[in-house]
Amino acid sequence: MSWVRELDARQRAMLDEMGVKVWTPLPTTTPAPAPTAAVAPPPAPAAPTAAPPMRAPAAAAVAAPPTPTHPTPARPVDTSAVASLDWDALRQAVTGCQACGLCQSRRQTVFGTGHGQARWMIVGEAPGEQEDRQGEPFVGPAGQLLDAMLRATGRDRRTEAAGGVYIANVLKCRPPANRNPAPDEVLRCEPFLARQVALVQPKLIMAMGRFAVQSLLRTTEPIGRLRGRVHRYEGVPVIVTYHPAYLLRNPADKAKAWADLCLALDQPLD
Ligand code: URA
Repeated sequence: MSWVRELDARQRAMLDEMGVKVWTPLPTTTPAPAPTAAVAPPPAPAAPTAAPPMRAPAAAAVAAPPTPTHPTPARPVDTSAVASLDWDALRQAVTGCQACGLCQSRRQTVFGTGHGQARWMIVGEAPGEQEDRQGEPFVGPAGQLLDAMLRATGRDRRTEAAGGVYIANVLKCRPPANRNPAPDEVLRCEPFLARQVALVQPKLIMAMGRFAVQSLLRTTEPIGRLRGRVHRYEGVPVIVTYHPAYLLRNPADKAKAWADLCLALDQPLD
């Protein structure tokens, strides 16, 4: 497979940080396994020390107090106006957005972070509790894993190394009790993400999790069936992968996430 490659010490350390076990041939007479097995199949089942999921499990989401989504928003987003905003005006529009009921429960909006002309753009789902407090995407446990994954590719949200990375979510406001985004919330927030993509003009988008995939690719196909090939959003190549919060709950799938990152690394950047 194209993503199987020689790993240097730094990448090995990063994969270790991601929790991906890398298979190394033993210097003994043990028969060599098939040449494609450079990355071990699923690591050991969930470590007891695995960080807790960012999002509440479905049962908890059902148990959460009902949060009305507003079918008739007081101030709908003006899609064509948003499509011409510059970075400052876009940030202001997000900060003042009252297009759905999430504006009533958020502490603050969570706009996006990273390099404004990054070659890679990461699209996640929605702010969680930590993001809602700090105003930055992916700063909780899932964010720590995302940072480790990005470092494994030589990228860092705080630097411009390798063209940098820009990180944004489908939703700019936290859904209460970390419930799933509602379809009308995704729809109303979409112009903001579309404008972020248009301003960044990334060479590659990584869609992390099903809400990013549904929003960008307009498909409800499961991630498992969309992985491993290059999709397009407004002409920009899109690689589909698991959400870091899912990976925290299902560490055996980190090897697949690494394969997705390698597919992303294989894409031309110019
Ligand atoms: N999960 C996301 O999708 N985005 C965040 O910002 C945090 C957790």
